[in-house]
Amino acid sequence: MIPRVFISVLLSFGVLEVWRHGGVFALVQSLDGEWNLWNSNKSLSLPARVPGCVHTALEQRGFIQDPYFRFNDLLYEWISLDNWTYATTFAVSKQLRSKREVLLVLDGVDTVASVWLNGVSVGRTDNMFRRYVFPVRELLKAEGNALTVRFLSAVVYAAQRRNAHAAYPVPPECPPDVQKGQCHVNFIRKAQSSFSWDWGPSFPGAGLWKGVRLEAFDLLRLVHFAALPLYDAGGSSWSLQADVLVDALQPAFAHITLDVPELLSRATFPTNFLQGAAKYTFALNINASSDVKLWWPNGLGGQTSYRLLVTARSRDGKSLLDVKSKVYFRSVELVQEPVGGSAGLSFYFRINRKPVFLKGSNWIPAHSFQDRVTPHVLRDLLQSAVDANMNVLRVWGGGIYEQDAFYDMCDEMGLMVWQDFMFACATYPTEDDFVRSVREEVSQQVWRLKSHPSIILWSANNENEAALATDWFHIPSWRRPVYLKDYVKLYVDNIMALVKQEDPGRPFLVSSPTNGAESEREGYVAGDPYDPRYGDTHFYSYVDDCWDWRAFPRARFASEYGFQSWPSLSTLWPVSVAADRRSSSRFASHRQRHPDGNQQMLKQAAVHFRLPDASDPLARFAHTIYLTQVMQAQCVKAQTEFYRRSRSELVGGLGNTMGALYWQLNDIWQAPSWSSIEFGGKWKMLHYLAADFFADVLPVAFEDDDDTLLIYAVSDLSQDLKLRVVVSVHAWSELDPVCTLTSEPAAVPGGSAVPLFKRRIAALLAGCGRCDRLACLLAFRLEDGDGARRGPANHHFLCSPKDAVGLRPANITAKVREDERGLAVDLQTSAVAPFVWLDAGALPGRFGANGFLMLSRERTVAFHAGRNTSAAELSRALSVTSLSDLYAP
Ligand SMILES: *[C@@H]1O[C@H](CO)[C@@H](O)[C@H](O)[C@H]1NC(C)=O
Ligand SMILES: *[C@@H]1O[C@H](CO)[C@@H](O)[C@H](O)[C@H]1NC(C)=O
Ligand SMILES: *[C@@H]1O[C@H](CO)[C@@H](O)[C@H](O)[C@H]1NC(C)=O
Ligand SMILES: *[C@@H]1O[C@H](CO)[C@@H](O)[C@H](O)[C@H]1NC(C)=O
Ligand SMILES: *[C@@H]1O[C@H](CO)[C@@H](O)[C@H](O)[C@H]1NC(C)=O
Repeated sequence: MIPRVFISVLLSFGVLEVWRHGGVFALVQSLDGEWNLWNSNKSLSLPARVPGCVHTALEQRGFIQDPYFRFNDLLYEWISLDNWTYATTFAVSKQLRSKREVLLVLDGVDTVASVWLNGVSVGRTDNMFRRYVFPVRELLKAEGNALTVRFLSAVVYAAQRRNAHAAYPVPPECPPDVQKGQCHVNFIRKAQSSFSWDWGPSFPGAGLWKGVRLEAFDLLRLVHFAALPLYDAGGSSWSLQADVLVDALQPAFAHITLDVPELLSRATFPTNFLQGAAKYTFALNINASSDVKLWWPNGLGGQTSYRLLVTARSRDGKSLLDVKSKVYFRSVELVQEPVGGSAGLSFYFRINRKPVFLKGSNWIPAHSFQDRVTPHVLRDLLQSAVDANMNVLRVWGGGIYEQDAFYDMCDEMGLMVWQDFMFACATYPTEDDFVRSVREEVSQQVWRLKSHPSIILWSANNENEAALATDWFHIPSWRRPVYLKDYVKLYVDNIMALVKQEDPGRPFLVSSPTNGAESEREGYVAGDPYDPRYGDTHFYSYVDDCWDWRAFPRARFASEYGFQSWPSLSTLWPVSVAADRRSSSRFASHRQRHPDGNQQMLKQAAVHFRLPDASDPLARFAHTIYLTQVMQAQCVKAQTEFYRRSRSELVGGLGNTMGALYWQLNDIWQAPSWSSIEFGGKWKMLHYLAADFFADVLPVAFEDDDDTLLIYAVSDLSQDLKLRVVVSVHAWSELDPVCTLTSEPAAVPGGSAVPLFKRRIAALLAGCGRCDRLACLLAFRLEDGDGARRGPANHHFLCSPKDAVGLRPANITAKVREDERGLAVDLQTSAVAPFVWLDAGALPGRFGANGFLMLSRERTVAFHAGRNTSAAELSRALSVTSLSDLYAP
C-alpha cells in the first residue's frame, strides 16, 4: 500500500501553468498580505505589504515622499542604515498541522535576516537571490502564530563582512564619490546596483520581496520541475527531458507519464522515489512522424509552444500529481572555431543550426523597488525591444535574476536572453559560507530558469575577468595569484561546475567581456579579455568622434557599447522643481552618477553640433536634452551599423561580427544614462533609430580612406535577395534632390552584408553639379527588382551639421488628426530639417517614427496612444523640434 503523494501548488515555476492534484492534495497557505513593520527603536511602526519592501511601505503610509524626488536618495539614507522587522500573526487549520511535514517557504528575502516563529529562531537568510525553506511543523499552534523576520541593515552587514575579511582586501572598497553610494556591496548577495551604480541611486532596501507561505505534505514534495528539449543531430529527432527534484519523507513508488498530445508523444516511467531530496530525469522521445514547430528568435520565425502533461499515479492508479507545462523546441550552440586561417576564433550563436546575428541591448533592474515592477511594466519594455527589431537582451550581472513573468514574455516574444549570474565589476570573497550561499543561489536559479528557450547563454559575471586582467583595482603583483585563485574558485570550480551539471546543453561563459575558449586556455583570465579576435567585447569611448567607425574595435561580438543622454523634460518633471530644470542646477549634477558624464555628453555633441544658445534657462535645458539624445542616437547608430556591416567580412583577421547589444535598454530612475528607454517607458530618440538600424534589411553607408563612399546591404533574412541601392544627393538648402544614382542589382544572400555601391565622394559630387561636402548630404535606400523599397531609408552626412552650408531654420507645422486607424500628425516643413523630434510630453504612447531627417515637404506620422487620447489632447501636448530650433536665428 503506497501512501498518497501530495504535490503542492507552486506558481513560482517559470513555465508551469497549472498544478492540479488528484485525491487529497498538499496544503499551501499563503502568508502574503498585510504585515506589520517597524524600525529598531520603534519610532516608526506601520502596516506593510508582503511581497514588498520598506521604502514602498513608508511611502504608501506617507512617512516619506517619492524616494526618486529630487535629492531624496540622500535624504533617505537612514532607511537603509536602520534595522527593520516584519511581523505577522496567523492561524493554521488542524488539517495542515496534521501533515507529517510543514515547511515555511520564503521565496525572496532582501537580504540579511533572522526568521522567528513563536519566539523560536527557525533560520537566517543572507542572499536575496534564493528561496529559503525552514521546517516549522513542531512550532505551529492553532491560532496566534507569530512570524517575525528581523532584518539587519545591508550596509552594516556588508561592512561587518568586510571587516571580518582581514587577510587581504576584496576591492573595490567603495564606489566613486559621484555615485553617492554605499561600500562593500561585493560582500553581500544582494543586487549589486542597489548600493549605487553609474546610472542609478543607492537604495539598499530591505523587505520580503517575494512571497511567503506554508507548505504541508505527508509523503513528498516537488521542489523543482524543468523540461528541456534535446536535439539528436545524428537521428535528426527531438526528445524532451523532464527533470524533477523531489524531497520524499520515505521511499515511494509511482508511474510517471509524460505526454505531449499535440505531438502524439507519450511514455510512462515506473519510478522509485528515494527518501530525501533527489533529482529524477525522464526522457520522452518525440514521435518522428510529428512535425515539430521550433522556437525562433524574433524576426526568424514563430515561437510555437506545446503542452507537456506530467502525471504520477500510485500502483493502485490514484492520481498523485498532475502538471501542465509549456515546452518549446529549439537548439542553441555558441560557435568558437578557427576563422579563415587567421589568428583568433569565431564567436557566434547558432539557433536551430542557423547562425543568428544577435541584435539588442542590455537590461538593468526596472526599478530600485522590485514590487513596483508590474507585469505591465515588463511587457511594455519587452514589447518596446521587439518593436525596435531586437532579438536579444542581456540580463546584466549587477542587478537581479528577473521575475518569472520576464522570461515567460521573452519566450513568447522571441527575445533571446543572455543571462549573467549576479556578480559585477568587483572581486568577490570566497569564504565557505559565501560560496555555499552562492551555490544554492546558482542551483535554484538554474532550476527555475532552464526550461526557458529564450535563455541561450549563462555567463558567470560582468567584467570581472577584465577587472583582473587590466588591473582596475591596483592589486600588487605579488598578491595577484590569490585573486586569480579566488576567481577560478568562484566562477569555474563552483558556478560553472554546477551549471554544467544541471544544464549541460546550454552555452556557458565565465565572464563578459571574455575571450571565451581562449580565456579558458589562459587559465580563465586572459591577458586581454577585450581582444577583438576572441569572444565578446565591451567598448566605451567618449572622447573619440563617434561618427568615425575607425575608432570602434572590429569585434566578433559587441555585448556592450553606448553613450549617455538626458531623459526628456516630461520624465524629469515629477521629480524636480522649477529651479532644478536647468543644465547648471545642483539637481542636474546630482542625477548624473558617471564621472564627468554631463561634460562628456556636451563634448561629444560639440564635435558635430553647435551647442544650444537660448538665454532662457528652461529652453536651454530642453534644447540640451534634445541635443544629447541626438548625439546618443547618432553615436549608437554609427557603431551598430559598423557591427552589422562587418558580419561577412574579415579585415586583417578581424570582423565576422555577429552581435551588437548596446548599453542599455532601460532606466532605473529619472536621470541621464545610456538607456534608449526612459524611466516610465518613453522612447528616447535612440530607441526610434534602433528600430531602423536593427531592421532585418538595412542599407549602411560609410567612408573609407581615399574619400571613398561605400554602401552595404545588410540582410538578416533567411532567403536571398536581389537588391540595388538608390542614392540621392540633397543640398541642405533645398528640399528636392539635386541628383539620383542607382547601382546595378546584385545578389544579397540571406544572412550577409554585401557592398553594393562604391564611389569617390569627389567624383560623386562632381557628377552632380552645385555640390560639395558642406552643401550637400546623401540619402539612400535599397530596392528590389520590382522597385519596391526594402528596409528603411538611410542617410549619410558629408560634414558636421554645424558646418553645413545652406541649412536654414525649418518652419515645421504639425496638425493632429484622427481617423479610423487612430491618431496621426501631418507635418509640413519649409526646409530640410535634421532630427525632427515629436514629443507628446507626459502622454503615454509612441510615434510611428521619430528623430528623422525630413527631406520632403510633407510627412505623416502615426501616434500609438498608450491610453485613450483625443486629437485635441495630443495637439495640446505635442511639440516639434528640429536641429535649427536650438539656435537663435
Ligand atoms: C529612532 O530611530 C530613528 C531612525 O534611525 C531616529 O531618527 C530617531 O531619532 C530614533 N528615536 C529615538 C527616540 O531614539
Ligand atoms: C542594527 O543592528 C546591529 C546589529 O545588531 C546593531 O549593531 C545596530 O546598532 C543596529 N542599528 C540600529 C539603528 O539600531
Ligand atoms: C506516432 O504518430 C503516429 C501518427 O502520426 C501514430 O500512429 C503512432 O502510434 C505514434 N507513435 C507513438 C510511439 O506514439
Ligand atoms: C510657418 O508656416 C506656416 C504655415 O506653413 C505659416 O503660417 C507661418 O507664418 C510660418 N511661420 C514662420 C515663422 O515663417
Ligand atoms: C475614449 O475617449 C472618448 C472621448 O473622450 C470617449 O468617447 C470614449 O468613450 C473613450 N473610450 C474609452 C474606451 O475610454
